[in-house]
Amino acid sequence: MSDIQLNDPQTLYRRWEDSQWNPFSIDLDRDREQWEAMAEEDRALIYWALSSLMVAEERITTKFSGLVGAHCSEEEATFLSTQQVDEARHMQFYARFRDEVIASPEVIAAHVARAREQVSDAFRHIFDDELVAAHEKLLAAPGDLATKVRFVTIYHLILESTLGLTSFRFITGYLEEQELLTGFVDGYSKIHHDETRHIGYGVWFLRETVREHPEQADTVRQTLRDLLPSVAEALGGAGDEGPDLERLGVGTDEVRQFALDGLTRRLGIIGVPIETL
Ligand SMILES: [Fe+2]
Ligand SMILES: [Fe+2]
Repeated sequence: MSDIQLNDPQTLYRRWEDSQWNPFSIDLDRDREQWEAMAEEDRALIYWALSSLMVAEERITTKFSGLVGAHCSEEEATFLSTQQVDEARHMQFYARFRDEVIASPEVIAAHVARAREQVSDAFRHIFDDELVAAHEKLLAAPGDLATKVRFVTIYHLILESTLGLTSFRFITGYLEEQELLTGFVDGYSKIHHDETRHIGYGVWFLRETVREHPEQADTVRQTLRDLLPSVAEALGGAGDEGPDLERLGVGTDEVRQFALDGLTRRLGIIGVPIETL
């Protein structure tokens, strides 16, 4: 499995120390020129995709601290605190891109508010209802194993893996093919590298937990049953009012299949085969 690093938190933490990057050092000069010159349809499509990323990283940054508090070892606490820094860094990169390439400089909240106008109801349900509720429960009960398992299933398995890796694959595939926004692709690729570490933690945690507490497989299954209809809808794009996703050169079926294949592989490793959902 090339895009998952299955390691324990201490190994992932050591890898984090060797993987630092600065969102303000990425060269965005060429992106600015290209953005100005881009066809209106391309700009609308890319703006829609970037808006989803902006909203997602804001949610993912501010709805995470409960998991740091729910750690079971010092090594896990260490790794999770690095993930919190990573997510803030990702949010900063997308905000900087909006500041310097797309729009006039704003505070992050204003960028997020504008980006929110672009996202679908299904997307909003996942990030604003399900993630927020799971995080609030975890803050209230950090020692409750089922609550932690539901949170990691939503955060690492659904948001970061199933939605995140799929978005990365098709957005960067399109931009690289069109030779557009090389600075953005550079930053997004560094973000992706961080995300593989985060997903490595999530898969490790769920696999170890299901092995030691087999009844928690049901928590994983129930969480997926609750969320997957919205995930499938969110992967269908922006709806009738949004930009034409076909411009990416791929159909909705291909996008959904890519997401499902990744989820199937990860569930196999965790020990909750997708056939048992
Ligand atoms: Fe992130
Ligand atoms: Fe992440």
